[in-house]
This record gives sequence, C-alpha cells and structure tokens, in this order.
Amino acid sequence: MTEKNTFVRMASDPASLIISSEDENATMGDGVTHQDNVSADIMDRLDRMAEISESKKHLTRRCFTPQHRQVITLVSGWMRDAGMKVWEDATGNLMGRYEGTDDKAPAILLGSHLDSVVKAGKYDGPLGILAAIDCVKALNIRNARLKNPIEVACFTDEEGVRFQSTYLGSRGIAGTFDFNLLNRADKDDITLAEAMTDFGLDTDRIGEAARQKGDFLCYLEVHIEQGPVLESEDLAVCAVTAIAGADRMTVTATGKAGHAGTVPMGARQDALAAAAECVLTVEEVAAAHPYAVGTVGQIEAEHGATNVIPGKVVFSVDFRAADDAVRREAVNDLTKRFEDIANRRNVDIVLEQSHSADGVTSAPWIVDAIEDAMTDLGHRPFKLPSGAGHDAAALAEITDVGMIFVRCKDGISHNPDESITREDAIAGAELLLRTVERIGGLET
Ligand code: GLV
Ligand code: MN
Ligand code: MN
Repeated sequence: MTEKNTFVRMASDPASLIISSEDENATMGDGVTHQDNVSADIMDRLDRMAEISESKKHLTRRCFTPQHRQVITLVSGWMRDAGMKVWEDATGNLMGRYEGTDDKAPAILLGSHLDSVVKAGKYDGPLGILAAIDCVKALNIRNARLKNPIEVACFTDEEGVRFQSTYLGSRGIAGTFDFNLLNRADKDDITLAEAMTDFGLDTDRIGEAARQKGDFLCYLEVHIEQGPVLESEDLAVCAVTAIAGADRMTVTATGKAGHAGTVPMGARQDALAAAAECVLTVEEVAAAHPYAVGTVGQIEAEHGATNVIPGKVVFSVDFRAADDAVRREAVNDLTKRFEDIANRRNVDIVLEQSHSADGVTSAPWIVDAIEDAMTDLGHRPFKLPSGAGHDAAALAEITDVGMIFVRCKDGISHNPDESITREDAIAGAELLLRTVERIGGLET
C-alpha cells in the first residue's frame, strides 16, 4: 500500500469520544474468553452507531451526510484503539491497517458498510465493521501478527439509497467506480459530485481509491443473514456460498393529468393506473422465474391530489435472481410487458437502469476455511447463498471473497425490528477471527 494511492486525509481524532480504559486494559489470559475481553462492548457499540441518524424517530444514515461524517469519527477512534493506522480514501471509505510480519504479503481485507436504508435496523453493516475491528483488537491485545497485514474497510455506501449508487465505496476500491453517477441528484437536487465535495473529497482524485489485483489476499465480511434459515437450523453462524445478482431501475410513467370529475374513463391516460399494473407485473414475472424476486419499493405520483388524474408517476424496480441468465431473461420479459402496458394504456413508460450487478460466488477455499473454523469453534458447518447484495460482490473484481452470516430474529432486516443476540454477534466476530487466523498464515 502506498500513501499516494490511498490516503486523502485522516479523520479528526475522536479519541476523547470513544476510548474506554476497559478497552485498553483488556488482556487475553488463560481461561479468559474472547467474549469476556474483546467483544465485551459489541452491542453497546452497535447501539452507539445506531444513535447516529438523520432522523430522531428512526435510523437513517445515508452516504455523505453529516451523520456519515459523525459515524466515521466514532468508528475511526475504535479502529485506532484496536491498533490500526487509519485513513479515509478518495471515495470516503474509512480504512484501517494492522501490519503483518511480511510487508510484501497481500492484505486480508475485512469490513462492511456504514450507510443504512431509510428506517433501518441497527445491524445491517455495522455488525461486520465491529466484527472486523474486534478481530484486529484480539490480535493486538495478544501482540500477535499474522503473516498478512489486515485492512478494515468501512464502506461509504452499499445500500445506494441516496443516489441509487449501490456499492459506491467498494467499487471505488475495486476500480469500477461509475463516474456517470457524479451527475446523479438526490431527492434534494444535490448531485453526488456536490455531496462528495461537501464531504471534503476531491472528485478528481476518485481514481486514487482503486487498489490493485494482488493488494489483497481476500475480502471477508460478517453480516446478518437477513433471512430465517439460520434460526430454523438452530445455528448462530454459517458460511456464504454466493451473492445473488441484481438489477435496479427507475421507471417513469407519463400520461396526462386531468380533472378527476370530468374526464370519462375511456379517455384517460392515467399514469398511476399504468404504474399499478406494472407493479403487479413485477410480482408475476418474478413468481414465474425460478428463485427470482422482484420488488417495487418506491412509488410517487407527481403533484398527486385526490381530484387529479395522475399525469406522471416514478417508481423503482429491484429485481434479483440466484442465476444471472434467469435474471436477465426475466428483466427482458418485464421490459416487454411494460411496453405492452404502455401501448394499451396510451402512457409512456421509460426504464432507466440505476444498478446492475451479476451474481458472485465465494471462493471455495474461503468457504472451506470458514467451515473449518466453525468446526474449530464447535459449530456445525453449514453454508447458505445470499439473496441480498453485499460489498463483496464489487470486491470480487479484484480479489477472492467470502462471507459469514450471523442469525437474526425471524429473518427480519431493512426494518427497525432487526434483532440479533449478543451471543450471536460474538459468535460471528469469533468465527471471523478464527478464519483470519487460519488463512493469515497461508502461502500466497
Ligand atoms: C442491500 O442490502 C441489498 O441487497 O439491497
Ligand atoms: Mn442492507
Ligand atoms: Mn448490508
């Protein structure tokens, strides 16, 4: 790693905010568990991160907001405390590094994302970041170094809520940042370029965030499962085999606004009625394709009023499938059916693709290492594919990837009711550490 490639500026020193003497004095003596020492405060830290929100009523933390800056300040203190050198890269990713014994060895990259959906749960993202910090802290407390350095990435924007810019930070690192996004505006008409500049970044230097193939041995991420399988299997953790691909689109239906009392039904060009048919078509097309899921999560009728026939409606489509070919075929089918709805209803329907990512497979050697580590720790080896997207999908461009899932209550996620137990959070952090210890000594 060269400073030139990755360093933009250090976040301000938050040490007074965050370092507890308990953290500093922790030791890992005989009979003292990881849980007693390293992860003792993981749930408190998750709560503290969740307090940093754009809304007082619920957790919303979008990229490049003051809350993003605040959470960077908080977490960077924990990273320094764990023994890492800390910096912020050219796409706003908060990065840390814990050196290994071989300065030429590629780093093991760990991490997750700092941003959230609107009205989020506390664990989607932050759990992976805290597990990664724990892992470094556990080594540092024992004064232990692996052959490989460890880097921790706290990604800028995985959810893509503000700019439909999914994987923004991890794509920055992978060298696949989409520069067309810079002109995309959020709901307040602030472009991504403006938001990044206001955040203190230089958009001319975005390319400097890119790392090379060979910089990393692999990327590992701990994440809540966001589904119900681990609970039904009575398992705290498992390995992840693959991450499903996804397409996201913004669809605009344009008809003709008119008087709700005077225009006969046969003469209408109702954009909302057309959009409603499209929404049900998304459901039908997804149901007709194996392991496909389709969602319309946002819809807005412009200048909507009780007594106005809607003239323009904008809605989102999120479409995923385990198999990329199935997803492509389904999205093709969807596009044709939208065309048919447009013709039949005399409404214009325009689809704009905002995100597309193919599915990614975890490296088999990493899945094996995680399952071996599970055995070491007394867990029954188990693996699952992920229907949700993760930064690992972007990082797969430059390195092997693998993930660990942690059980969450009732499989609920992207919802304030997201819930995990302290024991499971610690099990995830411990499994990450064990996996890293197993692979950190491998010859590359
Ligand atoms: C990220 O959480 C996604 O899969 O949408
Ligand atoms: Mn999410
Ligand atoms: Mn996530």
